[in-house]
Amino acid sequence: MVGIEKHTSTYKVNHTELKKWVQQIVEQCQPERVHWCDGSKEEYDVLCKELVEKGTFIKLNTEKRPNSYACFSDPSDVARVEDRTFICSRKKEDAGPTNNWVDPKEMKNTLSKLLEGCMKGRTMYVIPFSMGPVGSNISHIGIEITDSEYVVVNMHLMTRVGKKVVDTLGSDGEFVKALHTLGAPLSLGQKDVKWPCNPTTKYIVHYPEERSIVSYGSGYGGNALLGKKCFALRIASSMAEEEGWLAEHMLILGVESPDKEKTYVAAAFPSACGKTNFAMLIPPKEFAGWKVTTVGDDIAWIKPGKDGRLHAINPEAGYFGVAPGTNTKSNPNAMLTISKNTIFTNVAVTDDGDVWWEGMTKEAPKNLTDWRGQKWDPASGKPAAHPNARFTAPASQCPSIDSDWENHNGVPISAFIFGGRRSNTIPLIYQAHNWNYGVYLAATMGSEMTAAAFGEVGKVRRDPFAMLPFCGYHMGDYFNHWLQFGRDIPNPPRIFGVNWFRKDDKGNFSWPGFGDNMRVLKWIVEKVRGKSNAVESPIGWMPHYEDIDWTGLDFSKQQFDEIMVIDREQWKTELHSHAELFERMYDRLPKEFIFMRELLLSSLWRSPEKWSVEGE
Ligand code: GTP
Ligand code: SPV
Ligand code: MN
Repeated sequence: MVGIEKHTSTYKVNHTELKKWVQQIVEQCQPERVHWCDGSKEEYDVLCKELVEKGTFIKLNTEKRPNSYACFSDPSDVARVEDRTFICSRKKEDAGPTNNWVDPKEMKNTLSKLLEGCMKGRTMYVIPFSMGPVGSNISHIGIEITDSEYVVVNMHLMTRVGKKVVDTLGSDGEFVKALHTLGAPLSLGQKDVKWPCNPTTKYIVHYPEERSIVSYGSGYGGNALLGKKCFALRIASSMAEEEGWLAEHMLILGVESPDKEKTYVAAAFPSACGKTNFAMLIPPKEFAGWKVTTVGDDIAWIKPGKDGRLHAINPEAGYFGVAPGTNTKSNPNAMLTISKNTIFTNVAVTDDGDVWWEGMTKEAPKNLTDWRGQKWDPASGKPAAHPNARFTAPASQCPSIDSDWENHNGVPISAFIFGGRRSNTIPLIYQAHNWNYGVYLAATMGSEMTAAAFGEVGKVRRDPFAMLPFCGYHMGDYFNHWLQFGRDIPNPPRIFGVNWFRKDDKGNFSWPGFGDNMRVLKWIVEKVRGKSNAVESPIGWMPHYEDIDWTGLDFSKQQFDEIMVIDREQWKTELHSHAELFERMYDRLPKEFIFMRELLLSSLWRSPEKWSVEGE
């Protein structure tokens, strides 16, 4: 057992329960030593240096990418593992049909065997972190215990770590217990590998009633940085249901109009479907006076304020963003954000110590080292960067960061936007008639799967609220919570659906996307402010061609029609899959949904085969 002399800490801890828990984990996991993290720059630098010495990190060229590192993961450890993710509520029904469930007693049994001695030969780090600005009443505290230096330095960027958090906890403050281990103990004298993990056994486990997390066997992103998906979404969504707030897979952005009025919106798109891009959008140059500012790019915590409005914070302090496809045209703000102080995982490395990925430049530089750490052969047909390669960067470095992004009261949300990746069926933009129908729209959202998810890439799956992999309880209860939430606020935000990914017959995107999404965003913001016009379609309100600002873009009425068309037969298929989803969660499905589906069906029934805005 590690004696107290093997604990390093620069501060004193007075929290009895925390100390007890740490001691219990020390006894179980048997690390070589314990380090209590203080979140300081020195700590970050020392650990990065250690990671370089171990061969995990490659220090990048200081001139091209100051204070930045690249690393390659084990090929078995490249994304979240949805099939190994469990919600262990006491009752199976409470996890619902969309989550894997195991009885918590049984799971604890399994894990206790795996955890016995799992940190042998390693240092155990205790990371006190705050999700959200320290001290805000929307924020919550967690303690992550990990045996991975990579996790510690990433947590430094992604959350607020250190003594301030311990001070806020005091002697009896509440915190979420988050235990992480690589599941790769080292025997005496054994040399470590560059990316330790357990290649065969992985468990990402949540106990919602206890508000605790155990993650075993993976060192990657959402599996290991437990403040993110495990706490800020799965555990927090369950806390939110209990306490009357929302924890969502949403970006938050502010739109400033030429008359200097600011409107905040939150948008849920599934993993790798454009949240970071949208959050950092730069309006087309013709949109003089319009400005978009970034509050968050992945997660929103939203609480009702005394003023009757919804107040949102970004619980994170950094971005863990998709690298491939990011370039100076698609997302210049992201490119600037990651110009320094950034950790790159599974990107390719150039021979002069910089990074590269598919879509960064048209042509790949010569002599790349690919994400497997090997010399890349462009003729191999294999990508140089893994499709789910990511950067970790401090949010404060984002040029479009909103001045209120750390406001303890959050920012007031005026609209919610939901959008999946759909090559057909779903129009570019439509608005739900009311809150209930908006909840229906979000609940039935479908999306083609990406490399960030688990499953067949390209296949459409229902991803309600972009929360399918992240809801910590029964999805039917989650829908009811949203419905109830809207009833309890006097003037709930308006709800919109978007689809940036519709394709033409040749398989090309029909919509330019990225900065041009501002055209849609402007219509949304003005609609919220009662200034935009709309026409009623079979599925909700839609803009006419003239209602969208086209300055600077050559996009014809016919093109608009194609991207807005409601194809009756495609929509009937869509409604079938709504019914399939509903059947899966019939026991707790809001009954309103059954009637709303019927209403949709009846309005489609009497609509023409191809309904178009301009045909109206
Ligand atoms: P997570 O971090 O996984 O939750 O995802 P995210 O939603 O933040 O994903 P991100 O913004 O990084 O999306 C990355 C992918 O979406 C890349 O393949 C982009 O090229 C693509 N993308 C983003 N915006 C657009 C758009 O407007 N049009 C098109 N066609 N692609 C887009
Ligand atoms: C996602 O998959 O939605 C992510 C990346 O944001 S990860 O943190 O790895 O889950
Ligand atoms: Mn995400």
